[in-house]
Amino acid sequence: MSIKVLGTGFYVPPRAVTNDELSQMVDTSDEWIMQRVGIRERRVSVDETTADMATKAAKNALVSAGIEASELDLIVVGTISSDTACPTVAGMVQRAIGAKCPAFDISSACSGFMFALETAAAYVARGNVKNVLVIGAERLSKLLDWKDRSTCIIFGDGAGAAVVTKGEGYLASTMYTQGSDEVLFIPDVVGSSPFYERTEKPRFVYMDGQETFKFAVGRIARDVKEVAQKAGITLDRINHVVTHQANIRIIEFASKKLKIPMEKFFVNIEKYGNTSAASVPIALAELHASGKLKRGDIVALCAFGGGLSSAACIIKW
Ligand code: ACO
Repeated sequence: MSIKVLGTGFYVPPRAVTNDELSQMVDTSDEWIMQRVGIRERRVSVDETTADMATKAAKNALVSAGIEASELDLIVVGTISSDTACPTVAGMVQRAIGAKCPAFDISSACSGFMFALETAAAYVARGNVKNVLVIGAERLSKLLDWKDRSTCIIFGDGAGAAVVTKGEGYLASTMYTQGSDEVLFIPDVVGSSPFYERTEKPRFVYMDGQETFKFAVGRIARDVKEVAQKAGITLDRINHVVTHQANIRIIEFASKKLKIPMEKFFVNIEKYGNTSAASVPIALAELHASGKLKRGDIVALCAFGGGLSSAACIIKW
């Protein structure tokens, strides 16, 4: 038994921060960011929590799916920017939408939504749940060093969601982890225990951009080929690729390596930047809303990022 997508939704906060605005804060330019990354602007949450944004995306996904919150059996949220360690984002969404089901968060950086989707599929396969709300939501703006031009220009805030149910639309999947804190490091609460000496770790997001870039290009190609093979389809059968929106050059490299034309890759990085775990579900929801997804279309989803981690799956729409 597998899952199929019933509906999708997304939400981004209204405050847009353009490259020109950022170039007033750090030594950068619209030209550099557009050429090297492909971002024109990103959204930053001024006063909405990660759970607030997740709730809005969730409500949109429920409307799209045509089901009530009371019909949900499980809520899983991929996030690394939970507002609090407890309660979870998923728990706050459960309360805000009036659901009664269990809810929990999953931490796998930019691959978080994909890991959450796989978790949903596993619960449905086990037979004890039917409808699952899967969300990717992030407010990375609160973890960034806004004086560091190598990271603050890249990320944005937002949330994307999908309601999945029993069905035969999840053809194959893969997840990958390569434990490392050297390439990408995102800090947590430091704490104040008197029983140990705190080591000097970065207080903000740290990223070795070039190593992450190489990891990303290699993983997308490998993961998409693997899931296509597992699903028994050739790459030319794929109608749409919805990949993590981290850098337009990563997407272009992936297109070349996979020999899948760029027209099949959904791209919205220019508007939102890298929204970490929210990136794939926001892109999927925008693609869905555009009306370009047809019943029976084959969609490859793939993500990569901190962990290091990556994941991909093949969906039949
Ligand atoms: N504006 C202007 N110049 C800059 C900026 C900036 N914002 N940032 C860096 N530079 C400079 C550097 O200082 C360097 O200057 P130098 O040559 O004088 O030393 C030069 O530009 C080149 O720097 P690189 O770091 O080599 O730039 P690169 O082309 O690699 O682009 C980037 C950096 C955008 C970070 C890229 O490496 C990238 O996209 N990496 C992948 C990121 C990613 O995929 N992240 C996903 C995971 S995130 C997660 O999981 C939460």
